[in-house]
Amino acid sequence: PSKSSYELSTDKQDSYMSTLYFDRELNQNSKKAWHTIKTMVNLPVISPFKKRYSWVQLAGHTGSFKAADSGKILKRFSENEKECFERLMKDPLRSCVPCFHGVVERDGETYIQLDDLLTDFEGPCVMDCKMGIRTYLEEELTKAREKPKLRKDMYKKMIEVDPLAPTAEENAQHAVTKPRYMQWRETISSSANLGFRIEGIKKADGTCNTNFKTTKTQEQVLQVFVEFIEGNTTILKKYLKRLQEIHIILESSDFFKRHEVVGSSLLFVHDGSGNANVWLIDFGKTTLLPDGQMLDHRIPWQEGNREDGYLLGLDNLIRILESITER
Ligand SMILES: Nc1ncnc2c1ncn2[C@@H]1O[C@H](COP(=O)(O)OP(=O)(O)OP(=O)(O)O)[C@@H](O)[C@H]1O
Ligand SMILES: [Mg+2]
Repeated sequence: PSKSSYELSTDKQDSYMSTLYFDRELNQNSKKAWHTIKTMVNLPVISPFKKRYSWVQLAGHTGSFKAADSGKILKRFSENEKECFERLMKDPLRSCVPCFHGVVERDGETYIQLDDLLTDFEGPCVMDCKMGIRTYLEEELTKAREKPKLRKDMYKKMIEVDPLAPTAEENAQHAVTKPRYMQWRETISSSANLGFRIEGIKKADGTCNTNFKTTKTQEQVLQVFVEFIEGNTTILKKYLKRLQEIHIILESSDFFKRHEVVGSSLLFVHDGSGNANVWLIDFGKTTLLPDGQMLDHRIPWQEGNREDGYLLGLDNLIRILESITER
């Protein structure tokens, strides 16, 4: 496809975020119901899946995933993420993340092999919620300060949403630094105020929407959830129960205490049969703290304390879903 056909509004770099969609049948039938529909990259049928297999990537770098043996996916290798998964496999959180099956080479590239979380669903609806009040590492801030790299692409995306957002200096440079862009993204979305934000949704009919950049208030987020679950209270209750379980496991997890969890998501998946589940994914930026240091995951972030606000986000998410059940 031409570049523009899958260019998405994204929080990251150009061609950084894309929607991969492996189901030709659904894709052809799907009407452009959402005016914000994002183009699906229509891949040729990949042999291990043949029919009825659908996989979707709602966020992240284009081309960072590859189909694997049935029931598994390959994600582009990062040493940091591999080490996180190795530690996760020995932690109570193991039951809340895709199972890690080691490192593999394909066509000269290195990948980590993970369970495909969509396998047990029939026409899954998927939502990616990026957790935390902060989406960049403290380390990235320091780097940007020492050696500011000016990003014209991010400046462009900024003025597309809000022409008044850049400072006079940024306007003169026609560029912003990455942490500045990411901080701004946190404030226009719900990250800064609620501790999580919606990155993307795929509905059962195959339409995808990643245009939630400015979904900010509690009421706006709630509305998106209401639409996502389409009034199905069974699914809503399953999601809530699972989030409460995740909450308890997080509080007992040594991994969680000892990591700055930034840029990680909760992946919500359900289908028409009433099957629903939530997992933690994406540990590309999750960082082990120095020996002895622990995080609270709730107290406000101040540069140096490395707090990520993960539990603040989870508390709010649970509260918002509860308020839907009370409606
Ligand atoms: N194990 C999995 N099973 C099913 N779908 C997955 C799985 N892991 C990721 N995905 C899909 O791919 C998308 C991107 O995943 P992820 O966030 O791990 O990659 P990424 O953002 O490219 O990573 P990074 O932020 O390190 O660049 C998710 O939003 C989800 O839709
Ligand atoms: Mg991601």
